[in-house]
Amino acid sequence: MVHNKEFDIIIIGAGAAGMMCAHIAASKHKKVLLLDHSSRLAEKIRISGGGRCNFTNVNTNPECYLSQNKHFATSALSRYTPFHFTEILDKYNIGYHEKTLGQLFCNEKSQAIIDLLDQLCQENNVTRLMETSIISLDKINGRFKLETNRGIFNSETLVVACGGLSIPQIGASGFGYQIAKQFGLKIIDTRPALVPLTLNQETLASFSPLSGISFDSITSIGKVSFRENSLFTHRGLSGPAILQISSYWQHGESIKINLLPDKAIKSEILDNRSSNKLLRNFLHDFFSERLTERICELLGINRQLSQLSNKDIDKITSFIHNFEILPNGSEGYKKAEVTKGGVDTKFLDSKSMMAKNIDGLYFIGEVVDVTGWLGGYNFQWAWSSAHAAATSI
Ligand code: FDA
Repeated sequence: MVHNKEFDIIIIGAGAAGMMCAHIAASKHKKVLLLDHSSRLAEKIRISGGGRCNFTNVNTNPECYLSQNKHFATSALSRYTPFHFTEILDKYNIGYHEKTLGQLFCNEKSQAIIDLLDQLCQENNVTRLMETSIISLDKINGRFKLETNRGIFNSETLVVACGGLSIPQIGASGFGYQIAKQFGLKIIDTRPALVPLTLNQETLASFSPLSGISFDSITSIGKVSFRENSLFTHRGLSGPAILQISSYWQHGESIKINLLPDKAIKSEILDNRSSNKLLRNFLHDFFSERLTERICELLGINRQLSQLSNKDIDKITSFIHNFEILPNGSEGYKKAEVTKGGVDTKFLDSKSMMAKNIDGLYFIGEVVDVTGWLGGYNFQWAWSSAHAAATSI
């Protein structure tokens, strides 16, 4: 039961960004209310990184983010870096390790991060209310007034940390965008990102024997490319390299996949030009059996290397290094790790995250049109944007 309903700051959304902002702002002797409609705290942290939360990436830099304004994230990211976050983990003895590509994961379960943020909120006397639904919200006489199922609360400052639309089954909602619109801010069209892509029935039928097969790859669209594993699924394509490129993909566009990033298949064939080995047996040195079978079937070539024409070699090379596939959609918000788009950064001050047109109204975390690559970048944005807001309030 909360008796006093007057606060300096109300934060909507007790997720990664909301909890981070709450404890930093409260440490400056501000009275902070952190509220969330969900019954469970920071569910996305809990399920992230396969249960071990990939909480940041040591290679974080603004280039790893998509936004209509490429430079918007620079200020916040440079003032609160991955090392600031690991400093807190070190202080509280929370173990972590680097997996690949600069990705830092907890040694134990993700819950360790939730417990730490919760502890920091408690140490700084943040008032936290879960299962709190906002019925209406307004700004009256310079103060934000929130009517909720637990009564009316008001504050001088309102921080919107509601996240994006991905995984609605655990509490994601478009409420942050609704608040932005209510106060005259624009929204950059939202869509699922870091998401598996689907294929039409015909293409799917042709690749269904490969379902479950993961392979090293470079996926690319135009000049953007990612080197990680790709995976055929029973609905289409997944794996880190596909999730990464999905954030750049648009309907109607095909994706190029280099199936053999470390070798040049043409020189490999030319080096063995006099061999009587069948192409299938030769390719099996580079690919799994099922993938080899499929490549040969799709190429329609299975001669001995000595019998390959120059045209054959060009066809094989193009297929292996420039394999083109046309997705027909994505698996949507149910499977997307993040939402691309969101509150238009043109309306926000990049140093403080405050709305330029409404004093005291802040937007942080995923609700903002800043979308990170896969690999800890999205949590880093949550921490950095939360820090930017909390230190400027
Ligand atoms: P977040 O979504 O964390 O929090 C928003 C909060 O607002 C929620 O608690 C929600 O209940 C609440 N809320 C929503 N609507 C509300 C309303 N109407 N009223 C009140 N409260 C409301 N990133 C990364 O960097 N590394 C990783 O390993 C992963 N892994 C990962 C796995 C999976 C399965 C998903 C879905 C996502 C990831 N991510 C990730 C992305 C990462 O989880 C995400 O970018 C951050 O959680 C965003 O933090 P926010 O605090 O902005 O939103």
